Amino acid sequence: MSSYKAEDRRIVTVQRIKEMAERGEKIAMLTAYDYSMAKLIDAAAVDIILVGDSAANVMAGYPTTLPITLNEMIYHASSVVRGVKRALVVVDLPFGTYQGNSKEALCSAIRIMKETSAHAVKLEGGKQVAESVARILSAGIPVMGHLGLTPQSINKFGTYVVRATEEDEAKTLLQDAHILEDAGCFAIVLEKVPALLAKRMAEELTIPVIGIGAGKYVDGQVLVCHDMLGINEEFSPRFLRRYLSLGQEIKNAVLSYVSDVKTCDFPNEKEQY
Ligand code: KIV
Repeated sequence: MSSYKAEDRRIVTVQRIKEMAERGEKIAMLTAYDYSMAKLIDAAAVDIILVGDSAANVMAGYPTTLPITLNEMIYHASSVVRGVKRALVVVDLPFGTYQGNSKEALCSAIRIMKETSAHAVKLEGGKQVAESVARILSAGIPVMGHLGLTPQSINKFGTYVVRATEEDEAKTLLQDAHILEDAGCFAIVLEKVPALLAKRMAEELTIPVIGIGAGKYVDGQVLVCHDMLGINEEFSPRFLRRYLSLGQEIKNAVLSYVSDVKTCDFPNEKEQY
């Protein structure tokens, strides 16, 4: 593991994200869904905190991201924003709040910005959401795109396998990336595609490409915090690097607590009034 000392404590803006990519500084992005975790992650100098709709999986226990509602995303996002001093906070527009209707997309994005004080929104898809991207931007709201494996379309694809391994799909993916850039997205998340395709996208675009399972040649990386901290123990795809076994640590701590209570070791004389 390499060592890097974060010294720049300036607030991260959309402009600074673009500048980082321009000067070749990699962008570090992680998800968070609540105040306490966001506060810790922000203090550790992450550049972007994503309030992902993966909250549906890791916070609510749903098998897909589809059930989470706009109100639930707003609850998570406003909790995160209260814990953040430096990072750029981006919030996922949940399934069913922007697809196929740019006016609804704008209304959903405005609700998120107004009710959470987050800094930007993210949505999944290429050509089919370009009109929504432009309309949201017309209200002054920065938009991050999301291509490759787009979990909100799981019922169309049927699996979470690597995307765009065939030439046709790779070509469409690159076209979609250019459409999102032209529509005004400030960055694109690229999920689970071959590293060389991701490299080509990062080279062709002027906006940053932030990968998850998209290899090392892109402008930044994003992971789900519950996955990289080892809280979500069942999920272990090849692209995931686990930095902690927090799930096991938590279970050990709880086992000790239960034992202390059962054996009347807790509380002791000093722990009472
Ligand atoms: O919802 C989410 O956590 C995401 C990341 C996987 C990029 O979209």
